[in-house]
Amino acid sequence: MPFRIRSVRDVAEYRAAMSAIGHYFGWAPSEEDAERFGKLLPAERLHAVLDDGEIVAAAGAFPFALTVPGGELPCAGVTVVAVLPSHRRRGLLRRMMDAQLRDVRERGEPIAALWASEETIYGRFGYGLASLSHNIDAERHSVGVRRELPREGSVRLVTHDEALAAFPRLYERVARTRPGMIVRSRDWWAVRRLDDRPGERRGAGPLVRALLERDGKPVGYALYRLFQEGSTPESWAKTIRVVEALGVDDAATRDIWRFVFEIDWTDRVAAYLLPVDHPLPLLVDRVNKLRLTVWDALWLRVVDVPGALAGRGYGSPGPVTIEVVSDPHFPDNVGSWTLAEGEVRRGRRRADVRLPVDALGSAFLGGISFRALAGAGRAEEGARGGIEKADAAFRAPAAPWCPEIF
Ligand SMILES: CC(C)(COP(=O)(O)OP(=O)(O)OC[C@H]1O[C@@H](n2cnc3c(N)ncnc32)[C@H](O)[C@@H]1OP(=O)(O)O)[C@@H](O)C(=O)NCCC(=O)NCCS
Repeated sequence: MPFRIRSVRDVAEYRAAMSAIGHYFGWAPSEEDAERFGKLLPAERLHAVLDDGEIVAAAGAFPFALTVPGGELPCAGVTVVAVLPSHRRRGLLRRMMDAQLRDVRERGEPIAALWASEETIYGRFGYGLASLSHNIDAERHSVGVRRELPREGSVRLVTHDEALAAFPRLYERVARTRPGMIVRSRDWWAVRRLDDRPGERRGAGPLVRALLERDGKPVGYALYRLFQEGSTPESWAKTIRVVEALGVDDAATRDIWRFVFEIDWTDRVAAYLLPVDHPLPLLVDRVNKLRLTVWDALWLRVVDVPGALAGRGYGSPGPVTIEVVSDPHFPDNVGSWTLAEGEVRRGRRRADVRLPVDALGSAFLGGISFRALAGAGRAEEGARGGIEKADAAFRAPAAPWCPEIF
């Protein structure tokens, strides 16, 4: 019997579809898990592949908005993509990606974004690496965090409800200045970011919610857990696992990170997914002791080229002409697109830059320059000075930052 692909229809199917990715995490989703997840990922956005009535693969897409330079855009947040090992390499991922991308386009979402389990998978579906992230695993005692700078705020540990009331507004203020951030609903905060069910702790302690205030007003927060290894006092090693920390301005960012690094009786500070322009490496006296590593972060797919290009802001009025030379799914994306005075038209001008749609995805948030893409042979200059012009237009005020894997 041929494979069928369609959206899931009820909680039992939803759970079976989640079980495909669950297989790779050693996790069997309960009915409650499926219901919680369903608050953010509606059933019609969860595609499943059925083999003789049994679900053997799935791919979902959160309907959220993502911040882009100059605003935000509806975005398909691709998630829970998995094919059971019994059905691997029979083209099921390809079929799911085709169905999902068509659906995303019909719904009018001009971009899709994802975190890749393996960097080798998604380029063939038109996704490009749009941001990198910094991870640290710092030796806390070896790192001084600019103690000489004045402290302007104080920190309070708060309850879940206080965090739910205060943190979203702080996050939103930062998101207005950064591309790549999910516009989080209240459910998103409750179900995901502030989720502290034991399964979320991964061997660490409960979620600590620290609120930074200045002149009585909230200006930053840190979410973290304490993780302890070793069974005897002399072998204890305690790590602060930072889930997310931010400040609404430079002083608040410094203060919240100083707070984290000054937590007594701890050995390490581990924080993942920091933006590449995060001040921490410049804030500490011994940058090497941060043990900084670079990872891929958000991958972005421009699904509707004119819609996506018209939906972001630019650092220069143009005109700039971008020629999309190939798209594995949408032939109507291919061609020249001219940006001028905030409008996007199919262009007759000579292209400033030529590139495939996945490379446009890389450039879209302003985190990867056309210069860097050209250096890697992923884009080509079409007219003299074209790369510089395109970079001036696409530049973002801050590096993209998606502080969570979804
Ligand atoms: C990754 C995964 C979804 C692939 O599913 P699949 O059904 O075996 O993939 P397909 O047979 O449709 O392959 C489609 C193409 O992707 C390629 N591909 C698949 N998995 C790949 C991988 N891990 N690395 C590199 N290429 C891969 C195939 O070679 C094929 O290439 P081609 O058509 O260009 O020749 C599956 O292996 C899986 O579930 N892995 C574990 C969970 C996971 O990593 N999910 C992704 C979360 S972001």
